[in-house]
Amino acid sequence: MQQAVQRQVRAAVEPADRTIRLALAGCGTVGGALLEQLTRRSSAIAHRHGIRIDVVRILVRDERRDRGGHVPRDLVTTDLHEFLATDCDIVVEAIGGTDTAVVIARHALMCGRALVTANKALLAARGAELADLARRHDAPLSFEASVAGAVPIVRVLRDALPHAGVSAVRGVLNGTTNYLLTRMHAGATFEAALAEAQRFGYAEADPARDLDGRDAADKVAVLAWQAFGVPPGRVHVETRGLLPWPDRIVADAVALGGVARSVGEARRNAAGVSCTVEPVVVNGDSPLAGLVGADNLVEIETAAAATIRLAGPGAGGDATASALLADILAAAPSPPAPARNVGPAADTRRHRWSISVPAARREELAAAAHRIRVPAADVTEDGLHVRLLTEPVDRSLAGALVRALELQACEPVLLRVER
Ligand SMILES: NC(=O)c1ccc[n+]([C@@H]2O[C@H](COP(=O)([O-])OP(=O)(O)OC[C@H]3O[C@@H](n4cnc5c(N)ncnc54)[C@H](OP(=O)(O)O)[C@@H]3O)[C@@H](O)[C@H]2O)c1
Repeated sequence: MQQAVQRQVRAAVEPADRTIRLALAGCGTVGGALLEQLTRRSSAIAHRHGIRIDVVRILVRDERRDRGGHVPRDLVTTDLHEFLATDCDIVVEAIGGTDTAVVIARHALMCGRALVTANKALLAARGAELADLARRHDAPLSFEASVAGAVPIVRVLRDALPHAGVSAVRGVLNGTTNYLLTRMHAGATFEAALAEAQRFGYAEADPARDLDGRDAADKVAVLAWQAFGVPPGRVHVETRGLLPWPDRIVADAVALGGVARSVGEARRNAAGVSCTVEPVVVNGDSPLAGLVGADNLVEIETAAAATIRLAGPGAGGDATASALLADILAAAPSPPAPARNVGPAADTRRHRWSISVPAARREELAAAAHRIRVPAADVTEDGLHVRLLTEPVDRSLAGALVRALELQACEPVLLRVER
């Protein structure tokens, strides 16, 4: 009752032009985080996108489980048929697995509803069939959240690089294994690193699909599909995970002077597209070696734009839910309303600045800095130029000093220092 009232109040105060009805299958790590984001961002969504998203049904396995205050109990059901019969515009599938998930996905698309899913296993097994259904029923199918969590790799491949001549998509696609390898390179045993990963929530209670490479293989299949058009199900991903000798993988990489990473790769060659997931020794100064912890990193090798890299949180409720939310908003298009309070503004931060002039003009630099009251952290000279490093100051103060030096034809060079 209280929730219904809250929903009406929200509708009265928000300038939403349209209401989108959303049915959510799964309210665990990802589904729960999505519900929380939908609640927290409802006002911003209404203002920016002109829509109100009403969650109309939530499918779970265990009705009695406590899910927190942001999950309206009256919407929760364990009845699949009731869920399928719910009138809605968008279905979000976040239950995982392929059995019930494929029933939900097929039904949504055949009803002409948008389907948004985070389920790479479903896509790797049934992606081609679902894409075909989506085409035939003119129903959007979106799955940004299924690969690399918050890293928008699917959208980049599909929308930004369709004609860039992509030759390979590769990277660290499983945060759990990357965390383990990072910790093992730091001296931890595999068992200790795994226990730690489970304690911090980086690895599930049953990490089998991460450790044997199947999780990354499903993602590679989705990436090969998006990059090269090979339908998942038609590709074979040659897969070797960390098991059975994870410690030896790290020891061998160290002996070879490099760093072990579990790399998933889809690569075009003369014969077609090869797909692999395997341990790889990379150079210690490479971006893949630099990726420590549970993040993901994807490299796209292109003919037109060389290598493009995207990195960020590859899993976790919030990161994955933010990708789901982007797909939901894209599947429910509406004219964007003007954003509030966003106009041109001055940079209000303080920075360190380097201001250099030819060495012969050091007196003018010192005098101008003194006159304008620019605090110096350091002054260095290399024979040709003298360089003043400021304490953190407003942009306007650095600008005033440069203008004063320019008026005296001192040829100042101004750099913002972020180091
Ligand atoms: N977790 C991540 O970081 C992450 C990242 C990227 C993608 N994903 C993908 O997102 C999906 C969901 O993952 P998750 O981590 O959120 O899983 P989860 O925490 O285990 O949650 C699964 C949810 O689905 C419900 N459910 C499962 N099987 C069901 C069935 N047969 N009928 C009805 N409800 C069912 C569960 O109900 P109960 O709550 O009652 O048990 C639970 O609410 C998976 O496809 C996963 O691969 C997850």
